[in-house]
Amino acid sequence: MIYSKITGTGSYLPEQILTNADLEEMVDTSDDWIRSRTGIEKRHVARNDETTCDLAEKASRAAMEAAKKNKDDIDLIIVATTTPDLIFPSTACLLQQRLGIRGCPAFDIQAVCTGFVYALHVADLFIKTGNSKCALIVGSETMTRIVDWKDRNTCVLFGDGAGAVILEESKRPGILSTHIHADGAYQELLSVPAGISSDYNLVKSDKAFIKMQGNEVFKVAVNTLGSIVDETLRSNSMSSNEIDWLVPHQANTRIISAMAKKLDMPMDRVVVTVDKHGNTSAASIPLALDVAIQDGRIKENDTLLLPAFGGGFTWGSVLLKY
Ligand code: ACO
Repeated sequence: MIYSKITGTGSYLPEQILTNADLEEMVDTSDDWIRSRTGIEKRHVARNDETTCDLAEKASRAAMEAAKKNKDDIDLIIVATTTPDLIFPSTACLLQQRLGIRGCPAFDIQAVCTGFVYALHVADLFIKTGNSKCALIVGSETMTRIVDWKDRNTCVLFGDGAGAVILEESKRPGILSTHIHADGAYQELLSVPAGISSDYNLVKSDKAFIKMQGNEVFKVAVNTLGSIVDETLRSNSMSSNEIDWLVPHQANTRIISAMAKKLDMPMDRVVVTVDKHGNTSAASIPLALDVAIQDGRIKENDTLLLPAFGGGFTWGSVLLKY
């Protein structure tokens, strides 16, 4: 049996930090409101001249170094992003050029906060079908570019960053199962309602910002994440006490705690980075993964569950042996 296995991780956060105290100066909010409703204390913000590809390149180089891979080893590049550098070429093609790689397939995946889970699903299929031996999978975002800094409902939530993994063909178990879903009926609850073929004037006017009905999104997120976790455990005939680490999408500590409670998992087996990173959309899971691997919490052979939920709505999960 061929598995795809993570053999290296890397991440990058922009240097500039925006604290809740900084946001108090910008909109009618308070550190207490933000912490109690979201768990967020601070977030990183890319410089104006720093793009999604810049962040992706730094995370990718770190992941390649960790896996001891050079540019000639990489035979597939997938970048999950909602905030690409350009309309085209894809950020994956821009990244490929930066890394000096030529010829291998490179493409972006757009599934908002579930993007990294979608990307792992696709890469796992490439590897299991013999179409790739060593893939570079990245989640990279400059979400602060699509945030309305006058809208307190959304501007306190998001941050920028990138995380990357090297996924290799292996005879030892790696990814055990992936599950991805979408339901486009929820567009009104969470979107950036501007685009190339729908309302390009809005894009040109620099007003293509995130609009969200937060409390409605919250309810669907909690229910949907609960059901994806059930689906994953059921399809692997596993119980939650066999999961060593929950590494969920980082939108809100209340959503994460609800998921942990449903799984009956203590919070010390849950990787939480939303307090320091905010919601970095497709970058949040690979960032959290790298943090917990670097600090030694996640160890070889641990079983990890990576659930995600985001705009679309999209949702999904990956169960893997590290
Ligand atoms: N500071 C102070 N008050 C605020 C702020 C703020 N930053 N934002 C909203 N409020 C106010 C509201 O105006 C409202 O006031 P009102 O009662 O006078 O009308 C009150 O706080 C409560 O607002 P709610 O929206 O009901 O607050 P809620 O408890 O739901 O928390 C939050 C809001 C944090 C957005 C939460 O709903 C949430 O996390 N939702 C899910 C987000 C998510 O998971 N998104 C999916 C992924 S993102 C993606 O895919 C791009």
